[in-house]
Amino acid sequence: MKKIYIETYGCQMNEYDSEIVKTVLKKSNYELIDSLDDADVVLLNTCSVRDNANRKVYGRIHRIKHQRNGRGMKIGVLGCMATNFRKKLLENPSLPIDFIAGPDSYKRLPELIEGLDNEGKDHFDVTLSEFETYADVYPTSREKGVNAWIAVMRGCNNFCTFCVVPYTRGRERSRAPENVKEEVEWLASEGFRQVTLLGQNVNSYNYEGRDFAYLLEMVSRVDGIERIRFTAPHPKDFPRRLLQVIAAHPKVCNQVHLPLQAGNDRILDMMNRTYTQKEYLLLVDEIREINPEMVLTTDIIVGFPTETDAEFGDTVRMMEEVEFDSAFIFKYSERPQTVAARKFPDDVPEAEKTERIVRLNEIQREHSLKRNRAHIGEVHEVLIDEENTKKSDEHFKGRNDGNKIVIFSKGNYRQGQFVDVKISDATPNVLRGEVERVLEK
Ligand code: SAH
Ligand code: SF4
Ligand code: F3S
Repeated sequence: MKKIYIETYGCQMNEYDSEIVKTVLKKSNYELIDSLDDADVVLLNTCSVRDNANRKVYGRIHRIKHQRNGRGMKIGVLGCMATNFRKKLLENPSLPIDFIAGPDSYKRLPELIEGLDNEGKDHFDVTLSEFETYADVYPTSREKGVNAWIAVMRGCNNFCTFCVVPYTRGRERSRAPENVKEEVEWLASEGFRQVTLLGQNVNSYNYEGRDFAYLLEMVSRVDGIERIRFTAPHPKDFPRRLLQVIAAHPKVCNQVHLPLQAGNDRILDMMNRTYTQKEYLLLVDEIREINPEMVLTTDIIVGFPTETDAEFGDTVRMMEEVEFDSAFIFKYSERPQTVAARKFPDDVPEAEKTERIVRLNEIQREHSLKRNRAHIGEVHEVLIDEENTKKSDEHFKGRNDGNKIVIFSKGNYRQGQFVDVKISDATPNVLRGEVERVLEK
């Protein structure tokens, strides 16, 4: 029985995919192990979204190479680097890679791994499918905890000019709502309290005319699951009905991730984001009008090709105007194959990108602190996800409905329970408080 060890990089979709990979391999009688030391095969499920994600994996492969000296350990690359670099990975003599499999090829992994002993076989499969949704693979070896990931759609048709994902993951395709519901019911029976619906553009979900709002309503009817989250949405796919469903269903959490990317219309157009500054602000207003409590988070890229100081200033103004609860801010990183890489020079100097990212992080820190401090005195319903935090065994950690981290003293409750916590303190990253009561849920 071959022993397999898998490491996962990148987004939640990759976390979920690694669970699919483990399930496929277990079915074929491979043994999944937790350490590289005894592995016959090491799988790296990789990300290609920014160059530093790639570099991390290259570094890791070189370290594994030293560790495996003299042993027959095989290395396989899965995920977005597999489709992004294809055969180049196998042909690079300095990289000891034995096989590669893209995100739509995981059912073929047993075959690819068996083929390693056979010289004549192909050692890569990076074919992207228009249909594969792994609807028939329910991951049986999930990370334990309160949350389960579940992919409801895959791929992306948006082709934002900076983004490699449409090339690494292929075209959009959605899973049948009945099939999603069935898996969620099974997750509830396994004890999960929360599901996070995943897709590269999750709110463009559409299965034979049934849209994302329909899917959310369907999943809300599953008993035992108390919280439903979703990621990653695109601002273009928030019809009013979807916002109403999010606001109306207590199980659907009051948090919307609304990737802004940039605040200037010329840059937004060059990025092919399909909305303007004004349209984005109108959407924010509409969301807050339907539910003033909605937690808003975002992604921003600084230093997109040709972005001037004045245009960057528009991003600053947009941040001031919206005041996000939190934001992920990235420096533009040119990705092979993308339209931006082909058409626009990566001409904003690194030092300038650094200055911009530092400035935005400072602004965001202030906003996060202000918005978190506004919760002091409130009572929040918290789902306990960890029985002690990284820093202390005297504290438990959980998340409120808006997905903010809440820390409180240890007590007679456990992971998976809901508690009411009275918030007494806040930092930019966490809320702190004390439990008022344990909820029956
Ligand atoms: N499908 C998701 C995730 C895309 S990657 C979405 O559309 O939101 C997550 C974030 O990484 C993006 O929102 C973007 O802000 C950032 N990103 C993507 N490509 C990038 C690049 N080439 N350089 C810098 N940041 C990038
Ligand atoms: Fe990339 Fe844009 Fe698709 Fe998101 S919506 S995955 S940023 S192309
Ligand atoms: Fe990375 Fe691919 Fe996810 S590029 S962010 S692992 S979709």
